[in-house]
Amino acid sequence: MSPKIYAAISGAGHYAPEKVLTNADLERMVDTSDEWIRTRTGIRERRIAAEGECTSDMGAEAARRALANAGLAAEDVEAVYVATCTPDMVFPSTACLIQAAIGAGRAYGYDLSAACSGFLMALDAAAAAIESGRIRTALVIGAEKLSTVTDWTSRDTCVLFGDGAGAVVLTASDRPGIRSNYLGVDGNQADILYIPAGGCKRPPSEETIRQHQHFIHMAGRETFKIAVNTMLGAAQEAIRRAGLQESDIDWMIFHQANWRIIDAVAKRLGDGSADRAIMNLDRYGNTSAASIPLALSEAVADGRIQSGHKVLMVAFGGGLTWGGTVVEWI
Ligand SMILES: CC(C)(COP(=O)(O)OP(=O)(O)OC[C@H]1O[C@@H](n2cnc3c(N)ncnc32)[C@H](O)[C@@H]1OP(=O)(O)O)[C@@H](O)C(=O)NCCC(=O)NCCS
Repeated sequence: MSPKIYAAISGAGHYAPEKVLTNADLERMVDTSDEWIRTRTGIRERRIAAEGECTSDMGAEAARRALANAGLAAEDVEAVYVATCTPDMVFPSTACLIQAAIGAGRAYGYDLSAACSGFLMALDAAAAAIESGRIRTALVIGAEKLSTVTDWTSRDTCVLFGDGAGAVVLTASDRPGIRSNYLGVDGNQADILYIPAGGCKRPPSEETIRQHQHFIHMAGRETFKIAVNTMLGAAQEAIRRAGLQESDIDWMIFHQANWRIIDAVAKRLGDGSADRAIMNLDRYGNTSAASIPLALSEAVADGRIQSGHKVLMVAFGGGLTWGGTVVEWI
């Protein structure tokens, strides 16, 4: 019998646009305050893509950096998975554009739409392809230009979101890097967090534009409550499926939406402290599918995540969608 093939992350990279939009800047745009934003969300500033800078540009740069950190070349990549809810175009997919931009001539690829949980869903798809033996190397990218779907006149949402990208290289391994993956959706709650228009249900029209229907709409308080319970359940299930205890986890990376959500979930896991939670939402805000790989890449780059560490990643987002994954850093 041939030995079992596992999937492991062999490199991570991220990209954040240069332009910084601070809470003080937002105070000049809508009726809000730095104090409200910081205490309610934990966000101090976010990055905004330059005009003409697209999701594919940010994703391609994160992918190049992940490949460099993995010591691999674009020609080694056999599949490009892109999680995004802000693709450059309806089609071709952002994956096709990134495949061309980085010169991954041998790779197939596609986009995956699962809002803020997209990265963990894409990681699952890539891991399955590797574990089946069909491919040995994949790029998994979360990239978003949420500034184009943010209603900059609505204080309820415009303080929350930002642009950016994160990527990992997933390779075949003789040791299990992806230790578990638990994913879920609940389409019955589709309308608490969504973009109403732009698809075939409400195609773009003067009316949809006038009614701001091409922007993110969110029932914040409702989403908050569901997020805490769902993320806690996803975290516990992912740890259980990995055959581990909560105390075995070295680092936790939660989708960066709100520090109060992260704090509440982290404190209910293990030793009751949030010290193991990696946070960067103070600097980037909520970058949807990019948030987990962006935080992961930063924590690897600054040496917090080291070989042998067990990292729990937990996502929650529109759909509703959620996921929990335990990764052992090889
Ligand atoms: C959006 C969110 C930060 C709002 O915080 P909250 O504590 O729930 O605040 P509420 O919505 O209850 O609003 C409280 C008050 O602040 C006001 N407010 C909302 N946004 C504001 C802003 N940017 N500045 C100042 N006041 C604001 C509201 O109008 C409301 O005023 P009222 O009491 O007079 O009606 C929070 O609900 C949240 O993070 N939700 C979940 C987001 C999430 O998990 N997303 C996951 C996937 S993307």
